[in-house]
Amino acid sequence: MRSIYCGELRAEHVGQTVTLCGWVDRRRDHGGVIFLDMRDRDGIAQVVIDPDAGEHFNTADRVRAEYVVKVTGRVKQRGEGLVNPSMATGEIEVFAEEVEILNASAPMPFQLDGFTNVGEDVRLKYRYLDLRRPAIANNLRLRSKVTTAIRNFLDSEGFLDIETPILTRATPEGARDYLVPSRTHDGKFFALPQSPQLFKQLLMVAGMDRYYQIAKCFRDEDLRADRQPEFTQIDIETSFLDETQIMDITERMISHLFKEYVGADLGPFPTMPFSEAMEKYGSDKPDLRIPLELVEIKDLMAKVEFKVFSGPANDPKGRVTALKLPNGNDLLTRKQIDDYAKFVSIYGAKGLAYIKVNDRSDVENGLQSPIVKFLDNDTREAILDRVDAQTGDIVFFGSDSAKVVSEALGALRCKLGEDLNLYTCDWAPLWVVDFPMFEATEAGLTSLHHPFTAPSCTPEELKANPEAALSRAYDMVLNGCELGGGSVRIHDETMQQAVFELLGIDAEEQREKFGFLLDALKYGAPPHGGLAFGLDRIIMLMTDSASIRDVIAFPKTQTAACVMTDAPGLVDDAQLTELNIRVQLPEKSE
Ligand code: AMO
Ligand code: AMP
Repeated sequence: MRSIYCGELRAEHVGQTVTLCGWVDRRRDHGGVIFLDMRDRDGIAQVVIDPDAGEHFNTADRVRAEYVVKVTGRVKQRGEGLVNPSMATGEIEVFAEEVEILNASAPMPFQLDGFTNVGEDVRLKYRYLDLRRPAIANNLRLRSKVTTAIRNFLDSEGFLDIETPILTRATPEGARDYLVPSRTHDGKFFALPQSPQLFKQLLMVAGMDRYYQIAKCFRDEDLRADRQPEFTQIDIETSFLDETQIMDITERMISHLFKEYVGADLGPFPTMPFSEAMEKYGSDKPDLRIPLELVEIKDLMAKVEFKVFSGPANDPKGRVTALKLPNGNDLLTRKQIDDYAKFVSIYGAKGLAYIKVNDRSDVENGLQSPIVKFLDNDTREAILDRVDAQTGDIVFFGSDSAKVVSEALGALRCKLGEDLNLYTCDWAPLWVVDFPMFEATEAGLTSLHHPFTAPSCTPEELKANPEAALSRAYDMVLNGCELGGGSVRIHDETMQQAVFELLGIDAEEQREKFGFLLDALKYGAPPHGGLAFGLDRIIMLMTDSASIRDVIAFPKTQTAACVMTDAPGLVDDAQLTELNIRVQLPEKSE
């Protein structure tokens, strides 16, 4: 029907007769002349209908917002002073010769340009209308372009795009599974894949050498701004490459995408051991745009009389850390400092001690702080020296278990960076490496990545001291966001069994859950490794979106529901009977 998209019209089309199809973004009457802003996927163009257009003028008079119309007319240069430089099509307008209404629209549940006034639930209920907004439509367009570029890049590097099953067995990545009951196998369930991890490893055993897939993954976990229950991975696996080679290919891919689609030059990515990331930034995904660092002061606090500090300072699992905010005295009010104390309590911190350095040359009287009374002058000097504090700075303190201090001060560091706009650059990528194999929890050891990650030691060394063992895993981090992660895998049956045992999975359970993998490792499994990126997160960063929902056409809400289709929904009793399922709802609490 159309000859050109509204958004494509430019001065070069002046004089041409065009046919546009789209929606009425806005209709204005100006002294007998009607102006329609017509919108389609590509943008908005102004259409002018004057009374000489006869019946077509009457048609234009009947249209309302969001009617679907077809307009044929001549493209004209806008008059002197009427050019709209803020509109891509602002130099021209289309003089309509024919106007046809293709479909009417009921009054809109919300105005597209007033979307910020309605709750997200309303926007998600009418997602097909929300997606008409150019900002969000542009996100999907970029997503499509980036996906194509990824396919082209990986194809040119010799990767094969291979699909793996959605109805499968549990693939452990640390979340709960979404289960699907089987009708043909009584009492049995499929699990939706948390990732294609095991299948991609089996493709390496099969000799596919280089695999990729733009894969849907499903994880029943607590949602956050950068997490969805179903999301998309760029999943990659290779044989006969070591970690440096895998990191090289994937770094080139990400650099290429950011160069091409946001004009960003990411430069070579620095590599940082996990231990350094935790020590300096309190996080395994540090935001290196922020020039603040945590500084260890455990040794200086071991003997102070204030138990809040000396307790964790003498506990091997404790951590006592300082975070200096240069010029903090000018940047923060007392109220803001109190608000930051509330902020760190979200992460379990029991307080946020601080020292305002009013006069660095006078530790006796030049410091303002709720804690200096507990510190002798030598300790005050030592702390301020260690963090290189100057007059005007504020130094914050965290003292608790290492976990609480890292999370609380790590988050405070990011919050200060964001609130005070301390960023030193637009993009700060890095690789985090040398992760521990395991994390010790009350329930025993758990994998920091997944159980198929290779350690950088022998099975004997691993068994002798599992908590000290490092893995051959690597995470790619950009601006404090984990874009992707992967590892060199275990390709040896004995090593795989050793890891399962350390995780408390006995021989019987190993056979039942992962027998197919252990069998495959017997038949010539090549050394292999790979990585998976979160596609949604890449697009989120590229578009500077605050929520992952803004880059997904039909996302789920915070409670993992779809308010548009009303999923999850009830099913017929007959369906349940066929599946041998009886639903027992939890008793309602009073
Ligand atoms: P991992 O669990 O680290 O690794 O996931 C890889 C990447 O997927 C993205 N991601 C998510 N994005 C949106 N919503 C979620 N709920 C979500 N969970 C993860 C992140 C993350 O970095 N099989 C391994 C990869 C491998 O070892 O090759 C895996 O899935 O960007
Ligand atoms: P209190 O004596 O409990 O009032 O605490 C004195 C100061 O230490 C206050 O500024 C508290 O915010 C701070 N504080 C208390 N507990 C901690 C902690 N675990 N880590 C850091 N600061 C703390």
